[in-house]
Amino acid sequence: MKEMIQTHDDLLDMLDDLLREPTAFWNDFYADRDKRIPFFVNKPDENLVRYFERGIIAPGHVLKLGCGPGRNALYFARQGCTVTAVDLSRQSLAWARERAQEEQLDVDFIERNIFDFPLAKEAYDIVYDSGCFHHIAPHRRRDYLTLVTDSLKHGGHFALTCFIEGGELGGSDISDWEVYRTRSLNGGLGFTEEKLRLIFADFDVIEIRPMPMMPASATTFGRTGLWTAVFQKKHDNGPLLYKKNVAT
Ligand SMILES: C[S@@+](CC[C@H](N)C(=O)[O-])C[C@H]1O[C@@H](n2cnc3c(N)ncnc32)[C@H](O)[C@@H]1O
Repeated sequence: MKEMIQTHDDLLDMLDDLLREPTAFWNDFYADRDKRIPFFVNKPDENLVRYFERGIIAPGHVLKLGCGPGRNALYFARQGCTVTAVDLSRQSLAWARERAQEEQLDVDFIERNIFDFPLAKEAYDIVYDSGCFHHIAPHRRRDYLTLVTDSLKHGGHFALTCFIEGGELGGSDISDWEVYRTRSLNGGLGFTEEKLRLIFADFDVIEIRPMPMMPASATTFGRTGLWTAVFQKKHDNGPLLYKKNVAT
């Protein structure tokens, strides 16, 4: 029956409906490729390149969440990874596929909301998210954690970049509750290191650090106002802490 809340999914759908519908927003966002948007450059994140250089991660199966025009997915493919890259924006994926074709790189780009993605369990060595997580509403965070945890092999790595709370890129400092009072993520949620450690408490933290600003001449992408973080899925199958230890 319309607008009746019977299941947990009905509740999540109702909360989604309080907030901006993302697909039309992101398609419109990518309609003009000449806009001066920092991450429109086809350069991989500096932290990602460093993870390979330092041997934290090695080529394997990669799931890229919210891949946009594909700059990091393509970098993984260049490193010899097998890459599945998901984004809900058709516009961004058209751009990503063009970039892949220009370089003759093979990436499996999938147009889907990450929460509707048919998950291959424990199939990935690396899950990577650059700039998607801070656009995920708090009520979907638990599903996000399940998605990352279930898709990673034991000992696999999860890495992300996300807004610093009150940082130069404007990571909003509102509480999770405030999101629903104002019906907005205020341009994207900002996080403190403490919040990231709480949210990803089920993972071993390898490193959390701010991203440095990279000069225009650099071959990698770097902007201040972002956290970079890399975690490892624990080898044991212990109870999941996030069920009782979520950030407030
Ligand atoms: C800030 S952009 C970053 C794009 C890309 N990762 C980069 O750094 O170049 C965030 C991306 O996440 C995607 N996105 C946001 N929410 C999503 C969701 N629930 N499912 C799939 N993609 C999503 C958007 O379409 C957008 O392309």
